[in-house]
Amino acid sequence: MSMHSEELLPEIENRKSVTNWRNAPIRSEHWDLMLEAARRAPSSWNHQPARYVLVTDREHIQRLSQSLHRTNGWAVNAAALVVLAATPEDDDRVAGKDYYLYDCGLSMMSMIYQAQALGITSRQMIGWDEEQVKGCLMIPSRYRVVVITAIGYVSDSLASTKLADWKRTLTGQQKRYNAQHTVYWQRWGEGGSSLR
Ligand SMILES: Cc1cc2nc3c(=O)[nH]c(=O)nc-3n(C[C@H](O)[C@H](O)[C@H](O)COP(=O)(O)O)c2cc1C
Repeated sequence: MSMHSEELLPEIENRKSVTNWRNAPIRSEHWDLMLEAARRAPSSWNHQPARYVLVTDREHIQRLSQSLHRTNGWAVNAAALVVLAATPEDDDRVAGKDYYLYDCGLSMMSMIYQAQALGITSRQMIGWDEEQVKGCLMIPSRYRVVVITAIGYVSDSLASTKLADWKRTLTGQQKRYNAQHTVYWQRWGEGGSSLR
């Protein structure tokens, strides 16, 4: 019998950026798994540029939240804010393209799917003042803040889940381009399953 599933992974199927969290800290064994997932991510020449600052203390979350764009005020309710910082010097630049950003994205995505498997939902953010974030967390000046991800255990209240899903639908968050728009086969502009 094949060990390979022919279906989309549940973590991919179910992941969504929602912020209806339960008021519970992230368990330490769950941190271990998420951080291991992030650590195992591939990177160009194995440079591993991602550095994480994990903000879990309520007082620190509140302080960091002051550096966020006002539309990201919901983040103050997260169980933790995961701040991903990196410096371009730690990774490749090829033809003007800085790969530290790509490699950091791989690491964060890996963490997010592991989190999802543990019942932890996440919402990434780029709406914040970088200098304020760096100042607040004492991140050295040569590092760039790449993304901040708010995480928490998803609420088990049906009403809050419905509201989160309704908000998501209202803002069209679940929408994706279909493959005809983003995927070509053999050559740019060519499509159709007959070309596979
Ligand atoms: C790099 C990045 C930055 C984002 N920045 C914000 C943000 O500042 N505020 C916010 O509410 N959501 C932010 N999001 C969440 C996106 O809006 C969300 O991922 C997108 O609408 C797709 O929805 P889904 O993740 O539920 O599938 C960000 C997501 C990514 C990947």
